[in-house]
Amino acid sequence: PRETNMAIERTLSIIKPDATRRNLTGAINDRFEKGGLRIVAQKRLRLTPEMAGQFYEVHKERSFFGSLCEFMTSGPVVAQVLEGENAVLRNREIMGATNPANAAEGTIRKDFAESIEANSVHGSDSLENAANEIAFFFSEIEIVG
Ligand code: TYD
Repeated sequence: PRETNMAIERTLSIIKPDATRRNLTGAINDRFEKGGLRIVAQKRLRLTPEMAGQFYEVHKERSFFGSLCEFMTSGPVVAQVLEGENAVLRNREIMGATNPANAAEGTIRKDFAESIEANSVHGSDSLENAANEIAFFFSEIEIVG
């Protein structure tokens, strides 16, 4: 059935400190909305070192882990839940490749990222991770579809 690839999903997005510092929250949200995603939850907060370490725990053995956690706590972030058809993959398309040097034209990272580390946005990479990452930041009553 055609519904199989039209699943309405939710994914966790984070507008990172390099972007909030340059006042790009609205410009980035415009990309999500024009790309067919709805912002169904959103909060601005400062991550603690503990939160950053827990959120990026999967990368804790990587050489960039310490620097990444320091960067993610260097200023405010905007955590958000994006909803729409195939939202996990759709958001990854709108974001572009991790390294802005490899990101496609018209993507957030191509247009706004400063470096592979200060790359403006996070987006969940699977539906399973999305559920866990959404629960990390939001309770059910904070998500209004
Ligand atoms: P990763 O999960 O590989 O990328 P993505 O954010 O596209 O899912 O990496 C998580 C973050 O770690 C990435 O957004 C930026 C940072 N990072 C570095 O600072 N250096 C690196 O070499 C890599 C691979 C990632």
